Amino acid sequence: MNAPEILTPRLQLCEPTARHIAQLPAVLNDPEIAANTLTIPHPYTRDDAIAAIKRFATTHADDTGFVRFIERRDDGTLVGSIGFAFHDDGARGELGYAIGRQWWGAGYATEAAGAMVTYGFLSLGFERITAHAMLRNPASSRVLQKLEFESLGVVCGACRKNDEDIDADGYILTREQWQERSREQA
Ligand SMILES: CC(C)(COP(=O)(O)OP(=O)(O)OC[C@H]1O[C@@H](n2cnc3c(N)ncnc32)[C@H](O)[C@@H]1OP(=O)(O)O)[C@@H](O)C(=O)NCCC(=O)NCCS
Repeated sequence: MNAPEILTPRLQLCEPTARHIAQLPAVLNDPEIAANTLTIPHPYTRDDAIAAIKRFATTHADDTGFVRFIERRDDGTLVGSIGFAFHDDGARGELGYAIGRQWWGAGYATEAAGAMVTYGFLSLGFERITAHAMLRNPASSRVLQKLEFESLGVVCGACRKNDEDIDADGYILTREQWQERSREQA
C-alpha cells in the first residue's frame, strides 16, 4: 500500500523504509519501551530494525496492519513509531505507539495518535479503534484520554506477551463518537 505522508503541525508520519534503519535503534532501545509494548524487544539492535521494517512491509502488503514512523517536520528527526493492527475483517484498528524517551512529554504521541485516528476513520475505513495500555503505563492511558477515547475499564488478559496474559486498561473510539467529537470541536 502506498499511502501519502500524514502531516500534523509538528510531525510527519512516514512509511517505514530502509532509510530509518540506522536511526531506529537509538529511538527504541529502551527497557521501558520494551516493557510497555508487545513486539519491541530490548536490547533493540540494527537487525531488529531491519526485521521490523520488513515485517511492516509485509503487513501493508497483506492488508493486516498500517505502521508509520514519526518524524519531526522541522529537522526530520525520527522520534517514534505508531500503527494499527487490523481486526474484525478490517472494521477495527488496534492502535499502538512508542516515542523515544528523550521526547517524552512533548505531546508527540497525542499529536501523532490524533492524526492516525483521523486517518483510520477516513482512509482505512474503520468502524472503531481500540487501544490497550498496560496497568503500569498511565502515560499511555493519558494519551488515549486526551483523544477522548472511552474507557472500557480493566480488560483481563487483554494482551499476550512471552506466553503471559497481561491485564490492561482498554479504550475504544467508535466512528460515531469520533464524528460527534469532531463536530463539537469544529
Ligand atoms: C506512552 C508514550 C507513547 C507517551 O508519549 P508522549 O509523547 O510522552 O505522550 P504525550 O506527551 O502526548 O502525553 C503524555 C501524557 O501522559 C502524562 N504522563 C506522563 N507520565 C505519566 C504518569 N506516570 N502518570 C500519569 N500521566 C503521565 C503526561 O503528563 C501527558 O499528559 P498531559 O499532556 O495531560 O500532561 C511514551 O511514554 C512511550 O513511548 N512509552 C513507552 C512505550 C509505550 O508505553 N507505548 C504505548 C503502548 S500502549
